[in-house]
Amino acid sequence: MFTTVLPKSNSTKTSELPFDLFAAIQDLKRELNAVVLAHYYQEPDIQDIADYIGDSLGLSRQAADTNADVIVFAGVHFMAETAKILNPDKLVLLPDLAAGCSLADSCPPAEFAAFKAAHPDHLVVSYINCTAEIKAMSDVICTSSNAVTIVNQIPADQPIIFAPDRNLGRYVMAQTGRDMLLWQGSCMVHETFSEKKLVQLQIEHPDAEIIAHPECEPSVLRHANYIGSTTALLNYCQHSSKSSFIVATEPGIIHQMQKQAANKRFIPAPPLHNCACNECPHMRLNTLEKLYLAMKNRTPEITLPEETRLAALQPIQRMLELS
Ligand code: 13P
Ligand code: SF4
Repeated sequence: MFTTVLPKSNSTKTSELPFDLFAAIQDLKRELNAVVLAHYYQEPDIQDIADYIGDSLGLSRQAADTNADVIVFAGVHFMAETAKILNPDKLVLLPDLAAGCSLADSCPPAEFAAFKAAHPDHLVVSYINCTAEIKAMSDVICTSSNAVTIVNQIPADQPIIFAPDRNLGRYVMAQTGRDMLLWQGSCMVHETFSEKKLVQLQIEHPDAEIIAHPECEPSVLRHANYIGSTTALLNYCQHSSKSSFIVATEPGIIHQMQKQAANKRFIPAPPLHNCACNECPHMRLNTLEKLYLAMKNRTPEITLPEETRLAALQPIQRMLELS
């Protein structure tokens, strides 16, 4: 596994913290004219203080449209980086700069450049879960909620490289009937679910529907009654007539599911080992305390070279136009 070197996780001294963190963060939002954007995989307290919670597409749209001077991104590095690409003049803060992504790490720029050079006639569609360097080498970006729509708009005779997630790529191939050359990356969280335990769980809960994120392995996806992005999964549960669901994605999303449908039951899909490895260790580096300190100290800030930013901006804008 390749790893992008991000800084060490920042520690928090309790002496630096106010008594009421929620109130202090609300004060800082006003003082800085800041907006807090959070992904569904963040801890519940962060979701509750956020101005907007969403999937990667929703968060990108919010980042593109905001009038705030400061964007506090409660998510992982590639998400905050996307916000910075769209907003070069705004201060973009990430509560813990070490919050990376195993999927983004599975596609190192030098190896990907060689792969792309070996297939010069291919158009590159990259999943947003990648670094700015990979975005800069891509023709169009997609997220799990618009990947099928975007691939369907590419002429049928145009060969495609899809990177970096092989599971989302395979899912898009099945949905569109397109053959694509897949980069063999994957997410450490979504590949952890056990098919055997999932089937056992469904026998214990015969009325429950299985819902899954397309980053899951095919062995899990083939049992799913519904497959979609985090926002799509939330909407599905809210509007479904079913009252219980086995949720095959990061369990942070269950906080919103329970808020939206308090009378329904949400059961996290089990990982292979007896561990908490279905929780994203990168997403969970952010805490309410670190979010407060990031706003108070205006750091850690996301920066990137202007040349990379401009090259990465074009395929992101193409995605926003096509979806
Ligand atoms: P979405 O929220 O776009 O479905 O992506 C899930 C994910 O893995 C984010 O890292
Ligand atoms: Fe990356 Fe997977 Fe964590 Fe999403 S859940 S941030 S894809 S490691």
